[in-house]
Amino acid sequence: MILPSTPSPRPFHHPEPGSALHCEKVSLEALARHYGTPLYVYSADQIVERLGMFQQAFYGREHLVCYSVKVNSALAILKLLADRGAGFDIVSGGELERVLAAAPAAACRIVFSGVGKTEAEIDLALRAGILEINVESEAELELLAARAAKLKKKARFALRVNPDVFADTHPYISTGLREHKFGIDIRQALRIYKSVAGNRWLEAHGVSVHIGSQIRSTEPFGAAMERLNKLAGQLRREGIVLKAIDAGGGLGIDYHGGSFDAAAKVREYAEAIENGLSGFEGQLLLEPGRFLAAQAGALVARVLYVKRNGRKTFVITDAAMNDLIRPALYQAHHEIVPVRPRAGKSRTVDVVGPVCESGDFFARDRKLGPVKPGDLVALLDAGAYGMAQSSNYNTRLRPAEVLVEGGKARLIRRRETIADLLAPELAPADH
Ligand code: LLP
Repeated sequence: MILPSTPSPRPFHHPEPGSALHCEKVSLEALARHYGTPLYVYSADQIVERLGMFQQAFYGREHLVCYSVKVNSALAILKLLADRGAGFDIVSGGELERVLAAAPAAACRIVFSGVGKTEAEIDLALRAGILEINVESEAELELLAARAAKLKKKARFALRVNPDVFADTHPYISTGLREHKFGIDIRQALRIYKSVAGNRWLEAHGVSVHIGSQIRSTEPFGAAMERLNKLAGQLRREGIVLKAIDAGGGLGIDYHGGSFDAAAKVREYAEAIENGLSGFEGQLLLEPGRFLAAQAGALVARVLYVKRNGRKTFVITDAAMNDLIRPALYQAHHEIVPVRPRAGKSRTVDVVGPVCESGDFFARDRKLGPVKPGDLVALLDAGAYGMAQSSNYNTRLRPAEVLVEGGKARLIRRRETIADLLAPELAPADH
């Protein structure tokens, strides 16, 4: 019996043996020739498909998928998602401006999280009339009340609570324990909601949570929902009826390229969430990011040199840690593949960039098929927290970005120029 093959989790493939790696129907070789390298390439179809998986899995409940803008904030991607009904999770005034620039009509589908919102950011959110402000401290709630009264705009708020749920992930991206800086201790929440119940400028719209990122097991999400649901019940008995529960983001992917079934994973996630929410009648807000964008993207780089130092072989690419910092910052694994594989034996190499730091690596002691200077390699699963976390360190120009949609490639961000980089600086004084 032939078992059905598990759907590939990535849009990158070789149409024929020996051909170049493609994104959907578009050759990465052709894109690199046209737009240069390093180059981010994304599949619009996959991002849309992943959004659809969430929308389908939660079909039975009133819900809104609020894409987490920090993951990949390209205007073209925000527009793509907004056009398909997505809302947005933002964490700064800048992200709010981005959503308004890409899709002004989506303002009413925005939730705003973040531990340190400024007065200016709160004003911007109130004026834009966003769906919900996720408040992370009592002091922030006081400021929100004051600004709402001043601007005469009723503020819909949720307390972002810290449910004290452990999620097994990298310590930098785990957020749901009491000792983390995020949210309000769930044991304080009831008292705080009650304390502002009479305020005419505040509407207790919901309660929110985000327990961390790149979480592979769905069980902690269910546990967090149970705690929020219990709190919503307690509030209901006090006469405070919440309209929404915000489950945050965090669902992880398989960076090691295992063939996993994304749709099945989302269904498993939905089941865990729904189990935790039984009895809650309101709207469910979701803030996925990585799961929608990570596997849709690759960073294409050119090999500059291959050199041996002692016992080690280094493959030096024109992309560096400033373009994709995840390996350096979290020891994250990204699969690296030659765009046009050569015949011959794989070697154990370090794949590194030109930046002047030993931390500038993409992979260490990694088996890689033979590559020569001038060859292209693709760093996979780079659609999330790649370009969004890039910088100009070493005065490097950030990559261009291409979106492949319906078999056609479109430049969505041109490569930076040195003039772009120098523009904000004041001319050095003449002495
Ligand atoms: N909602 C809130 C409030 C968040 O803080 C985050 C991510 C998300 C949603 C989206 O989480 P996701 O679905 O993408 O896991 N730079 C790190 C990840 C940082 C996550 C920050 N918060 C990385 O490259 O792994």
